[in-house]
Amino acid sequence: MLGLRDLDVSEINHILDTAEGFEQISTRSVKKAPPLRGKVVANLFFEDSTRTRNSFTLAADRLSADVIEFTQKMSSVSKGETFLDTARNLEAMGVDIVVVRHVASGASRLLSRSISACVVNAGGGFCEHPTQGLLDIYTIRKIKKSLEGLKIGIVGDIAHSRVARSDIWGMSKLGAEVILVGPPTLMPPKVDELPVSVSYSLDDVLEELDVINMLRIQFERMGGNPFPSVREYSHFYGLTGERMQKAKDDILVMHPGPINRGVEIESEVADGKNSVILEQVKNGLAVRMAVLFLVNQAAAEKA
Ligand code: NCD
Repeated sequence: MLGLRDLDVSEINHILDTAEGFEQISTRSVKKAPPLRGKVVANLFFEDSTRTRNSFTLAADRLSADVIEFTQKMSSVSKGETFLDTARNLEAMGVDIVVVRHVASGASRLLSRSISACVVNAGGGFCEHPTQGLLDIYTIRKIKKSLEGLKIGIVGDIAHSRVARSDIWGMSKLGAEVILVGPPTLMPPKVDELPVSVSYSLDDVLEELDVINMLRIQFERMGGNPFPSVREYSHFYGLTGERMQKAKDDILVMHPGPINRGVEIESEVADGKNSVILEQVKNGLAVRMAVLFLVNQAAAEKA
């Protein structure tokens, strides 16, 4: 599972339908199921993470897998071991599924060609973050029933966002109209080759949107300063309570986290009635259970 660009509509829907089944498990008093019993999942995180990492750990745990936690800071990478050697050593311990997050965009693809265990991309560089895309889509589908014909705005730092890439591929495949909103300096290169339209003004498009996904400015992933000041950015692109007056009553407000309150989104909106931000996190667990379950199933069929 490297990216949503690689999947077709029926594969995406199959993952979402499988996740629906797994959502039920979280409502039981015993929140475990046996499908990955005896399997080993390694969480290989070369970059910081809160939601994604804990969600994958819990998902693997709920499916009864054994989980190995790897973080760069506490490993032999600090002694000079390469990315591939690290992964091969973990594989030698009998790992079946490797969940990988890396600063480099091609890391999960490289890994999938180099080891025989299944590889799940948990966010790579600026490229893709497929399980985040899937949980965003799952959350929208659950509330709006279908993505067909919805207008979805993705606002902010598109250039450095792997979440935006996965959302763009997945949402457009399912029939949504995706509008990227932000300053020209935060638009990705070759944006005209993506299945999207572009607006440089949030105020121009806000009233049309059925869903709005606010992105964090990923300062740690960029070189220079993409705008004169954070204050100016917030003025033009921040989702404030005042701006929300213009939006549809039933607009869904999304954010992949971590939120920078007062920069891309005001607290009253992040915690307000249209916000589904914590629903996204909740749904992420079921979606990741589905992904782990299905990659394991696909590997078993191949063997
Ligand atoms: C995002 C990421 O790491 O790509 N967060 C996440 O996984 N939910 C977005 C971000 O870092 O802003």
